Amino acid sequence: MSGEEATAPPAPAEQAPPQEQQAAGGGDAAAAEPQYRALVLSGFGGYEKVKVQVRRGSPCPRPGEITVRVRACGLNFADLLARQGLYERLPPPPVSPGLECAGTVQAVGEGVTGRQVGDKVMVLARAGLWQEIVTVPANQTYLMPDGMSFEEAAALLVNYITAYMILFDFGNLRPNQSILIHMAAGGVGTAAIQLCKTVENITIFGTASASKHDALRESGVAHPIDYRTMDYVEEVRKISPKGVDVVLDPLGGSDTSKGFNLLKPMGKLITYGVANLLTGQKKNLMAMAKTWWNQFSINALHLLHLNKAVCGYHLGYMDEEVELISGVVDKLVGLYSQGKIKPKIDSVWPFEQVADAMRQMQEKKNIGKVILISHCPFQCYAFKASSRNVRTLASESICTDHTQLLPRSDLCDIKHDASDPSPLNARLSQPAVSEQHISFPKFQTKFFFSGLQAVGDYWLRSMSRQSVNASCYSNH
Ligand SMILES: NC(=O)c1ccc[n+]([C@@H]2O[C@H](COP(=O)([O-])OP(=O)(O)OC[C@H]3O[C@@H](n4cnc5c(N)ncnc54)[C@H](OP(=O)(O)O)[C@@H]3O)[C@@H](O)[C@H]2O)c1
Repeated sequence: MSGEEATAPPAPAEQAPPQEQQAAGGGDAAAAEPQYRALVLSGFGGYEKVKVQVRRGSPCPRPGEITVRVRACGLNFADLLARQGLYERLPPPPVSPGLECAGTVQAVGEGVTGRQVGDKVMVLARAGLWQEIVTVPANQTYLMPDGMSFEEAAALLVNYITAYMILFDFGNLRPNQSILIHMAAGGVGTAAIQLCKTVENITIFGTASASKHDALRESGVAHPIDYRTMDYVEEVRKISPKGVDVVLDPLGGSDTSKGFNLLKPMGKLITYGVANLLTGQKKNLMAMAKTWWNQFSINALHLLHLNKAVCGYHLGYMDEEVELISGVVDKLVGLYSQGKIKPKIDSVWPFEQVADAMRQMQEKKNIGKVILISHCPFQCYAFKASSRNVRTLASESICTDHTQLLPRSDLCDIKHDASDPSPLNARLSQPAVSEQHISFPKFQTKFFFSGLQAVGDYWLRSMSRQSVNASCYSNH
């Protein structure tokens, strides 16, 4: 259930006022102010337009709001469109994107009931959630169920609410029906497949790049189709000459008409995206013109004769529908608790690697959800700079994406206990602020280590994209 008593309309999460946005210089008083990091879209364009920015101040909730310490954020296709200026629900840049996140309640504003400091929550907003700390209306937050990780929680809301509403509210999916799911291996696609499996005997056709077909079969897609090398309409008709009962259309352009023509009598097409607009890193006017030109349209009389339905769905325009959305979230939480759905996480990326995260999705590599995390997934090692250890660590760290060296003196107040690395990891997982920290990316690591033998004791922290839950520790 969402928090009660919050009357402010759901809107973008609060953005720091401009004077607070850049943490640079400012003397002792400014240096003492708390800082937090945010991802900011500085202008429309390529991957480089989203940057990490340090903000000052401690956001406080107003009446009806809560402040959340964010642990994980969802990346959505809409964020790729937004970066190119193709998502009209994002306020103009500079702005923090982010439609969903999960974290812990840090402060509760006046009049909020049902939320307490320390609660783990999922958050939904029009924008602004890619920040370490967000302040949002309490009625845009939902309690995380037991056993759910922050990464799963950040993957639930947008994808599963969408999949649930298009399948069951619009699609009215019933036992023994058939369905065509485009982008089947993506965030909404994997959610839709899991939800289809809650209904008896659904035949699923799913389009995706060929490399994902084994994963699709395992998840319950009877007929994966490689839309990049095959005509999916022909492939569906070969197996089911009459077509399908439901088509989920996130593509737009000519694919909407193809989907409509594939419907059986009494079939339903739900259009909920225009992925065909996205062809590269930057806005492509040709693709936009082509998609617009091929846009499906039909008049009511024609529809009447065909016995088919066309529905349009956009979660971004359901800001006001607080009760409707919380009803769906309740059902999803129930399904999660019964083990019937479980967000599939493709990959987890720290804020610093937001460009790689976007590339993962835009270059069609993801199977499931791409997650951003605000804290750095460090693997921590302690070592003395003997040549043997340096060589070992160098070979390990060049497998990671980013590495930092911290003088041991920085950490001397931490009790050194190899059986309990958590205090050390907690310290190392804070962003480096001291100038003594030497930070360098993967390609420089090799060269750096070749000159290291002369240096004293260091802690090395290496940031690896796959090491989020590893938090590994070794004391050489
Ligand atoms: N209306 C709403 O409220 C709503 C809410 C959420 C999502 N959506 C829509 O649902 C769709 C899926 O969203 P998502 O966030 O779950 O993303 P996603 O499916 O994870 O998106 C990435 C995948 O889409 C496929 N793809 C198809 N066309 C693409 C293109 N032109 N560029 C890049 N990848 C393309 C690729 O996989 P394959 O090549 O393997 O297919 C890629 O791996 C999007 O159209 C999105 O706008 C709508």
